[in-house]
Amino acid sequence: MGEFFFYDIILKVFVFVALIIFISLFFITAPYGRHTKSGWGPMINSRLGWLIMESPASLMMFLYFIIGTRTTTVTLAALLIVWQIHYLHRSFIYPFQIRSNTKMPVSIMFSAVFFNIVNTYIQGRWLFSLSPDSAYSSEWIYDPRFIAGMLIFVIGFYINKKADFILRRLRKPDESGYKIPGGWLYEYISCPNYFGEMLEWLGWAIATWSFAGLFFFIWTVANLAPRAVSNHAWYREKFPDYPSKRKALLPLLY
Ligand SMILES: NC(=O)c1ccc[n+]([C@@H]2O[C@H](COP(=O)([O-])OP(=O)(O)OC[C@H]3O[C@@H](n4cnc5c(N)ncnc54)[C@H](OP(=O)(O)O)[C@@H]3O)[C@@H](O)[C@H]2O)c1
Repeated sequence: MGEFFFYDIILKVFVFVALIIFISLFFITAPYGRHTKSGWGPMINSRLGWLIMESPASLMMFLYFIIGTRTTTVTLAALLIVWQIHYLHRSFIYPFQIRSNTKMPVSIMFSAVFFNIVNTYIQGRWLFSLSPDSAYSSEWIYDPRFIAGMLIFVIGFYINKKADFILRRLRKPDESGYKIPGGWLYEYISCPNYFGEMLEWLGWAIATWSFAGLFFFIWTVANLAPRAVSNHAWYREKFPDYPSKRKALLPLLY
């Protein structure tokens, strides 16, 4: 039995786990940020927590690239670059941009570390070793699926970053507390940052045209759709004047 046998089992088991997480998160909101509460064990500074939990995704992808058995094509290079742009930012820049003094439970941080280790294994081993020889040849960059996927990724990245930027600007450097965000996509939904993040990994799934890519999209929806519902309900409860027409995650729909 080769690695692919175990890889395939891990992928299937974790799709099932994603389904359980998706349902559970509608009942238990992950206790970080505005939903932080006590009773989840030791806490860690949020900035450090973000750095520790996201950096394995960047570092391990480099490792899988280095030990990979595929010849590096322009397609693989492009996929590696967009992955690293996302994760170098999320691990090493985003934590120092946030204007937040909250702490997160160490248990939440470790569950995210665990997810990033599994997910990066699924993505990295697929791209650089386990995929069919011809899957990511240089010709793949001209395929409409690759072009459309990359375009969706870039649009999602832009939306995610702009939405997070707008949230940051709600607080002055030493301020804490929450305000009603407004303008741009916030006029339609409470969580455009999550909407953008979901688009990014939808684009990744299309550009890689793989179960590995789909796996990441499924996990992103499983994490962020219930959290968007919780954030939306939280805004409505905290701010009686919260815009009533605003949806949680999908403009005009949901
Ligand atoms: N791929 C995935 O599965 C996944 C999972 C989780 C997160 N993410 C991404 O990670 C990033 C952060 O996620 P998050 O859940 O922490 O997002 P979030 O709850 O929207 O918070 C983002 C930042 O903005 C601040 N903030 C939020 N709402 C605010 C308001 N109304 N007034 C003032 N400040 C406000 C938060 O401060 P506080 O910390 O003080 O609340 C935090 O620093 C997002 O881009 C998200 O897409 C991805």
